Amino acid sequence: MSKLAWWQRGVIYQIYPRSFQDSNGDGIGDLRGIDARLDYLVSLGVDAVWISPIYPSPMADFGYDVADYCNIDPMFGTLTDFKQLVDHAHRLGLKVLLDFVPNHSSDRHPWFEESRSSRDNPKRDWYLWRDPAPDGGPPNNWLSRMGGSAWEWDEHTRQYYYHAFLREQPDLNWRNQQVRRAMNDVLRFWLDRGVDGFRVDVLWLLIKDAQFRDNPLNPAYGPGAPDHHRLLQTYTEDQPEVHEIVRSMRATLSEYGERVLIGEIYLPVPQLVKYYGTNGDGADMPFNFQLLSAAWNAGEIARMIRDYDSALPEHAWPNWVLGNHDNPRVASRVGTAQARVAAVLLLTLRGTPTLYYGDEIGMTDGAIGPDEIQDPAERRQPGIGQGRDPERTPMQWDSSLPNAAFTSGKPWLPIATTTSVRDQDSDASSVLSLYRRLLILRRNNAALVQGTIEHVAANGDVLTYERRYHDQRLFIALNMGVEEATVQTGAGVVLLSTLADRDGEVLVEGANRLAAGEALIASF
Ligand code: GLC
Repeated sequence: MSKLAWWQRGVIYQIYPRSFQDSNGDGIGDLRGIDARLDYLVSLGVDAVWISPIYPSPMADFGYDVADYCNIDPMFGTLTDFKQLVDHAHRLGLKVLLDFVPNHSSDRHPWFEESRSSRDNPKRDWYLWRDPAPDGGPPNNWLSRMGGSAWEWDEHTRQYYYHAFLREQPDLNWRNQQVRRAMNDVLRFWLDRGVDGFRVDVLWLLIKDAQFRDNPLNPAYGPGAPDHHRLLQTYTEDQPEVHEIVRSMRATLSEYGERVLIGEIYLPVPQLVKYYGTNGDGADMPFNFQLLSAAWNAGEIARMIRDYDSALPEHAWPNWVLGNHDNPRVASRVGTAQARVAAVLLLTLRGTPTLYYGDEIGMTDGAIGPDEIQDPAERRQPGIGQGRDPERTPMQWDSSLPNAAFTSGKPWLPIATTTSVRDQDSDASSVLSLYRRLLILRRNNAALVQGTIEHVAANGDVLTYERRYHDQRLFIALNMGVEEATVQTGAGVVLLSTLADRDGEVLVEGANRLAAGEALIASF
């Protein structure tokens, strides 16, 4: 498998650092906590960790409001802790990816403080400042993704600044060459410290229309949807010039060898795949989020797999994401039984899988009481289901210990459920054991890592496909329904089933049974 880059062979595991492991009793996870759990990640069988932002931040959006791109927030530790973590991870064979947040900084970043200090400050143009409309109101109709106008009035300099998210997150002006240089230097700062790549926050939003034209009304908008859906994002996202910026980031990473550039991009597939660029000059992996919102049925998933595969440019490497810190957990979206099927799907599809911490023990969304709400998205627009606290609850390590051994203090969000790594560790029928078996199987079977995907089909509730590499042929069948089904197979052997006792079973050619909610991998 040597022709592939590590990020093509490997499996990525996302850590939300506030919630993974606390080491100092303040109720918030930290770098030393992550360090103490690296052995667990090795035993799980993943290859890389992506850590959500750990930079100094006022935490208006829990680290996605960066006040210093080249340091560590004391809440998470120090640059020395970071170095120790990277070195330790590397010794264990794990790669470390950071979250890069280039679209906006915190309003407390010295760059913004300078920029807002006067209209003729040299950094004025580092952010997006505009005069008011003739009536004194905001310069145009652009809306914030956290609700309300995206323009904030600055009384001191009597102009508005643009923020796609919170007012505490002013957008940087990526048309400014100095901003580009400064940001590429930030990448180098971390690459010099051994970082293996980046997940780039809201990559498709970096450039806005040069003429600041009004966004058109969205004819499909209905009540209950987030506020900014009232408008189409015609002039605020996916502008053609963004690709030039992606190329410059890719070029910076290439100065350091095999480093990975992943883009957070919520766009339909035809637009998404443009972020690969041409001949490898774009993002290595524009995140493919389709599974996060897919209707959970065999026909829909089959169509999605086929369409994605045929939309990929020739050089492009696919990827699939099953969960993240912005969306309900998979076990809550599809139910705990189907979450096992989803695990088999994620780890047998063609392309690099990204797992979200806690999904490997089947964590479900936590219930957050009205007094426990932390997420600014929920505070600004309550009750429309945008709150992201439920999927950010602390990792459950050991249910026999207080706070599931996440912290010795008071956890910043409540512990969601009673299951834990410790409970599942030696139980062969647990979700954790399923993930471990799948990750071993993936590691040992080239067809799963670099094989083609073929014969993707849905028959009733059963989704089937094949992975092929040279003469190895693996058959995958997933029963996404609640009733037993039959599936036509060739003669073969079951390598793995979500029903553990089927491993090694010989399949005869013809109709074979698949229990409700069973997924299996067989070799022919
Ligand atoms: C991304 C992050 C999200 C954050 C937003 C603003 O979507 O994943 O958590 O709120 O960017 O930075």
